[in-house]
Amino acid sequence: MGLTRRQFLTRVGDAGGYSAAFIAMQGLGLMEARATEVPELMAAPASGHGTKVVILGGGISGLVAAYELRKLGYSVTVLEARNRPGGRNWTVRGGDKVTFTDGTTQTCTWGEGSYQNFGPARLPSAHTNILGYCHKLGVELQVEVNMTNSAFLQNDNANGGKPEMMRRVVNDTRGHVSQLLSKCVKTGALDQDLSSEDKDKMLSFLRVYGPLDLGGKYNGSERAGYSELPGAGDKAGTINPAIDLHTLLDERFWQGMMFDQQFDMQATMFQPVGGMDRIPYAFAKELGSIIKYECPVTEIRKTGAGVTITYMEKGASKQISADYCLNGLPLTQLKKIPNDLSAPYKQVIDATTYASAYKIAWESRRFWEQDQNIFGGLEFCNVGCSPIWFPSAKMFSPRGVLVSGYTDETNSPFSKLTMPQKFDESRKSIERLHPGFGKELEKPMYVTWGRIPYNEGSWIRGYGQPEHPVTTQPSAAGGSVNQGYETLCQPDGPIIFIGDHVSHIVAWQEGAALSGLRGVQLLTERVKAARLASPFATQGREAVAV
Ligand code: ALA
Repeated sequence: MGLTRRQFLTRVGDAGGYSAAFIAMQGLGLMEARATEVPELMAAPASGHGTKVVILGGGISGLVAAYELRKLGYSVTVLEARNRPGGRNWTVRGGDKVTFTDGTTQTCTWGEGSYQNFGPARLPSAHTNILGYCHKLGVELQVEVNMTNSAFLQNDNANGGKPEMMRRVVNDTRGHVSQLLSKCVKTGALDQDLSSEDKDKMLSFLRVYGPLDLGGKYNGSERAGYSELPGAGDKAGTINPAIDLHTLLDERFWQGMMFDQQFDMQATMFQPVGGMDRIPYAFAKELGSIIKYECPVTEIRKTGAGVTITYMEKGASKQISADYCLNGLPLTQLKKIPNDLSAPYKQVIDATTYASAYKIAWESRRFWEQDQNIFGGLEFCNVGCSPIWFPSAKMFSPRGVLVSGYTDETNSPFSKLTMPQKFDESRKSIERLHPGFGKELEKPMYVTWGRIPYNEGSWIRGYGQPEHPVTTQPSAAGGSVNQGYETLCQPDGPIIFIGDHVSHIVAWQEGAALSGLRGVQLLTERVKAARLASPFATQGREAVAV
């Protein structure tokens, strides 16, 4: 009897585990990265029947895990402390309240259709798994403009504090650098590095890259924009004169211009139409009563056979027992919840540090579009609140919500200011970059994740050892360089950690989604191994595939 490709892969997986199936898939040409597609898990359909899983936290990792486990037939419960799904994926609209841990409350009064994503606000096209879930769940996406050459850079200590357009800074910097390099090539400074043929090739490349004239000089370029735009008839337009190199180098004026070259920040970026929370709400719709809202976890205990989780529901303490637990709680919370995690895990969790990223968002007339021809994108200044982030939603509509200030404020002088002082600083940044427009900002909202209940941190900064920065990137020799991270990646008995903090893509929904998928894969392998080791374990339950 012939096998389908899926049956074949499942059998390879059964015999040799996930890595064997992975290799078989590569051999079959099935592992090429496909845009916006979540890979199939290597587990037999219905193999979860008879196994109970409790998931702590209804953020993206927990939602992904619940969605996948349910498909495999597991009996799943998600315990979520809030009355909404998504965790840090949080969109605030008119009528919503923002309450800090100390009880300070702001009520949003923005108009219909205005919103701000105070947590994740962009989806890189490289993040194919979270995009894959959007596709699967029917979440409509639109382009998020991360950078536009029409936006400004500003530095109090350079260029007389005058803001300058990104297209001038980027293109004039490149022009000057190309001119200097061309000079080096011509004067023989690079003779050790370049053959005479390569020198010729380099000079012709620099003429295009600069762009330079035939003599190797940068004379400004239309790439840097016009002071008077070209038009019809005799309107040839006037190209902006080149900014001198000294100004561009002064006080790192150029800082910010490479922002969108970071891998995760590159175009094309996306966002869900109507707010980032369309993603968790789409999961929630699929999962229905699997998610128990307003059920904060109060105790985590391992039992001989699995776990028992205590939680609060409607003022009463309740318990749920399960064979496995996928634990997606922020480690800031896990530190405070009584648990019997093993000593190495407790040590790492206690030693972790978190950032408190904040955003200040204002509703305003779209002066940036209407008066300044800026559509979406980021702007940077060297002091005060930075970056500025213009909305990509509803361009050309009368009003919109912009961000003025988005960074980690942990231990900064900014963190010591009162909320009104922070709003003043935020308004000042708009005034620095867009003189005369600061007064148009209205109805500010401030979210700093270190003060948001059930998070108390925006993303992990260090895994201990002591104050070890988050260096989860692989070392040149391969493998991770952080022992704390390595520990959390291993299950502690029946408890498997999920969340962006157990991924190499910290502070992104892609990391959370992948950690959820990995958690499910680890769990299914354990279930399979346990059944193979004890084939009669399913007696009394329905017979299940492994
Ligand atoms: N992923 C976060 C952002 O997009 C850090 O700003």
